[in-house]
Amino acid sequence: MDVTAPLGLLAELTHRCPLHCSYCSNPVELVSRSAELSTADWTDALSQARELGVLQVHLSGGEPLARPDLPELVTHASGLGCYVNLVTSGLGLTEPRLNDLAERGLAHVQLSVQAATPDRANLLAGAKAFDRKLAVAELVKASGLPLTVNVVLHRQNHDQLAEIIALAESMGADRLELANTQYYGWALRNRDALMPTRTQLAAAEPVVRAAVNRLRGTMEIIYVVADYYEPFPKPCMHGWGARQLTIAPDGTVLPCTAASAITTLTLDNVRDTSLADIWYRSESFNAYRGEEWMSDPCRTCDRRTTDFGGCRCQAFQLTGDAANTDPVCSRSPNRGTVDLILAAPSTPDLIMRGPAR
Ligand code: SF4
Ligand code: FES
Repeated sequence: MDVTAPLGLLAELTHRCPLHCSYCSNPVELVSRSAELSTADWTDALSQARELGVLQVHLSGGEPLARPDLPELVTHASGLGCYVNLVTSGLGLTEPRLNDLAERGLAHVQLSVQAATPDRANLLAGAKAFDRKLAVAELVKASGLPLTVNVVLHRQNHDQLAEIIALAESMGADRLELANTQYYGWALRNRDALMPTRTQLAAAEPVVRAAVNRLRGTMEIIYVVADYYEPFPKPCMHGWGARQLTIAPDGTVLPCTAASAITTLTLDNVRDTSLADIWYRSESFNAYRGEEWMSDPCRTCDRRTTDFGGCRCQAFQLTGDAANTDPVCSRSPNRGTVDLILAAPSTPDLIMRGPAR
């Protein structure tokens, strides 16, 4: 198949993070500080990414502000002509730091919010973060940068959906991402406690629809569905190795952020292999590209160019084979696995995210 250049790079600068979210999709085993790429490694990787065609760089983590070289990396990425987005918890983002990053070419800030009220939000974050986030939103708006508020939805905050939308409005968000939890990495441990109920999801739908209509032209709202409840899977990553790549803090290059969970996949590192080689020629990026790898029912399905067979990581996690049809799909012979999970009524305590070693 023809492979086109990637559009985006998710640069996970560090796994260190001041929050302890139970829905964290980073791996259970985090990369330690001592194993992180150096500043020179990152600038080289960013240059290679731009040469490859990348136009959007998402500086993420963990908390990217934990890297003292963040300003240098912003300067480098924006100097290459990339649109640079900071994905942050907001903790550690002071006015001088933000203004400095903006002057260096930062183009956008994506701020996470855990819930609509301080008590609930701080409980879910495992840190006193709520007030700081409100202050950071004000700073971002004052700086003139566009602001996206990202809220991961789950059983423990779905009941606040209307208040969450109102909060994002009051923060002046240009865009609000309401993303039902995706169960990868640490979040998979908490799946039973995080899984929203059918009733919660049914109640959410009219609230989101009304807000989308009311706020059109003011605040864009993106609603990511709870895919376990859907009859067909999400078009994960818009197809494997199709549009975006991720570099983990230690330089491992991933076709999707959760791909390290697929233990049968051999992953390359940007310290050893060029990004172009990895993107175009590596085993990992070619493993599930296009349709060749598909088995039935995807192979002959009329939806295969729409959803690309769903999510490879989910297929691996739930069936043990990443080449299987995503078991969320109602046409998958493994759909029963997902139905059993949904039938489980248990709501165990949340296991909060631990720190990186
Ligand atoms: Fe998508 Fe495969 Fe299901 Fe068809 S069978 S809808 S291609 S996941
Ligand atoms: Fe990895 Fe969907 S999360 S392919």
